[in-house]
Amino acid sequence: MIILGIETSCDETAASIVVDGSEILSSVVSSQVDVHYKYGGIVPELASRKHIEDIVPIVKEAVTKAGINFKHIDALAVTQGPGLIGSLIVGLSFAKSFAYTLGIPWIGINHLEGHINSVFLESNPPKFPFVSLLASGGHTGIYYVKYHTDIELMGQTRDDAAGEAFDKVSKVLGLGYPGGIEIDRLAKKGDPAKIVFPRTYLDKSDFDFSFSGIKTAVNRYIQTHGDEYKDQIPDIIAGFQESVVDVLSYKVLNAAMEKRCDQISIVGGVAANSRLRERVIKDAETKGIKVHIPSIDLCGDNAAMIAATGYHYLKNGKASDISDDVYSKMTAS
Ligand code: KG4
Ligand code: ZN
Repeated sequence: MIILGIETSCDETAASIVVDGSEILSSVVSSQVDVHYKYGGIVPELASRKHIEDIVPIVKEAVTKAGINFKHIDALAVTQGPGLIGSLIVGLSFAKSFAYTLGIPWIGINHLEGHINSVFLESNPPKFPFVSLLASGGHTGIYYVKYHTDIELMGQTRDDAAGEAFDKVSKVLGLGYPGGIEIDRLAKKGDPAKIVFPRTYLDKSDFDFSFSGIKTAVNRYIQTHGDEYKDQIPDIIAGFQESVVDVLSYKVLNAAMEKRCDQISIVGGVAANSRLRERVIKDAETKGIKVHIPSIDLCGDNAAMIAATGYHYLKNGKASDISDDVYSKMTAS
């Protein structure tokens, strides 16, 4: 089954052609960073307008790169939520009219399920059931994955998402937006043990997170150290990153042990973080747990993961209806 995936939930316009939920023929992602950069964050109205400009050329590019034409497409999968309403509407409206014109089925996909299914686009994917840590700019949670479309939430952040903490700390230190990549790069020049920030485990036996305290702790450090902090930026960042990574690694491995799973995955934009990847793999090894992490391109928002998820619904006969609408908030399953 050849599926065209479409993703417009946030600040990336993406389209992809995926065969049978696992083979990527093309994956095109157009980032809007240039549009939002000068505002230090995403401006929803500008995001929707940019999606409108980009959606048609991006879909055309994905189809051309895949070496197919429109009549080869069997079905469409599109992000239905959660995300920015105006941005989601662009993708969903496009998908509805495109599917209607071609006379093919379409399915609305939960963006978080999309991230969780991104590991199935890599070779040697995990076997069910497994535990997944999803850490992105909008969400951070731990899930028990019984099947592609049967996912149970074990715990999630009570305030900021992990990626949001990276972005806010980056902003306060004047390192720009989005912050994750820059923090990852600069942290390599710092000493993570020099400035130690608090770790918020909440209840150590559950799987909820809180990242607003660490952001406040970094803010307080800056305020109490005058201009002196400017020479310590790599150490501040390395200390901050280590605190976030410690908590994420601890909780996902504990969740795997509670569910007696010997496989975990880490997905979402923050899964691109080099220290998180290194730490989880090292910690998991001591417990005999195998870690699955998608390649960097599949960690951030993309449409291949939406097409891959769509396949598992469509092959079981599920499809969306012309009256289906977008939703801004919801966790996976
Ligand atoms: O999954 P994603 O592309 O979009 C959402 O669904 O939110 O995640 C974006 C988030 C941003 O907060 C960004 O700063 C973070 O992922 N991110 C990183 C890295 N690359 C992206 N965070 C830490 N280290 C990175 N290398
Ligand atoms: Zn995402």
